Amino acid sequence: MIYRRALLWAIPALLAAGIAVGGTSLWRRPSNTHPAVRERAVSPLFEPSQAETLLEAPDRDAWQKPDEIVAALKLQPGETVADIGAGSGYLISRLSRAVGSRGTVYAQEIQQELLPALERRAESLGNVRVILGTAEDPRLPEHSVDCFVLLTVYHEVQKPVAFLKTLHRYARPGARLAIIDFDAARRGSPPAPTGHDVPEADVLAEARAAGWELSERHEFISSQFFLVFRQMPDAG
Ligand SMILES: C[S@@+](CC[C@H](N)C(=O)[O-])C[C@H]1O[C@@H](n2cnc3c(N)ncnc32)[C@H](O)[C@@H]1O
Repeated sequence: MIYRRALLWAIPALLAAGIAVGGTSLWRRPSNTHPAVRERAVSPLFEPSQAETLLEAPDRDAWQKPDEIVAALKLQPGETVADIGAGSGYLISRLSRAVGSRGTVYAQEIQQELLPALERRAESLGNVRVILGTAEDPRLPEHSVDCFVLLTVYHEVQKPVAFLKTLHRYARPGARLAIIDFDAARRGSPPAPTGHDVPEADVLAEARAAGWELSERHEFISSQFFLVFRQMPDAG
């Protein structure tokens, strides 16, 4: 009896030990990822009906600092910037101004319900193209993007390493990638919404595994990290 109970306790440990390679258990890590990448919980998709109250909240600018975000991206006139998971288009008018009439903004989304709001905003701006992608594939024109921006999107990306690898197909050589998101451990203000955050350390490991190296880190948003990556030389 004692032996049977001991065996029940031991089974998970034996399984973990038995399939562990190099100290990392295979059952926690999909085989197509890098050893430094751990499995983690991914948040559910944002509910489009909440766009007005959450994404367009009147007090958002005060903590989100969108002008500072766009300034930190150092966009040049004529560049192409992809706002991945653009939501209702919170950032697109600023991005549009930054790249100017010779530049292009791809306002990309995967939820059809958000497209009308994006189309409405895009209409008056002239250099914004609204694009419907999928959770695995942003479906942008190939080799066209100078800068990708994921503002409060990454925590919802279902297969993060594969997704970041896919971006190389759409990148111009030397493209940069900005990931801005909540990390509950920052204990910033406003607090990260429960279950809608991602540890910065995981983002760093996942981006590296996908061929993006950290080039800048900005610290002006209290509750969100702001990381800028560059394509690793042979990643494209
Ligand atoms: C919290 S909203 C943020 C919207 C916008 N970036 C903003 O800050 O106002 C997250 C958005 O990411 C989108 N999203 C989630 N996974 C995505 C993916 N794999 N590719 C593109 N968009 C995605 C969702 O549809 C949702 O609109």
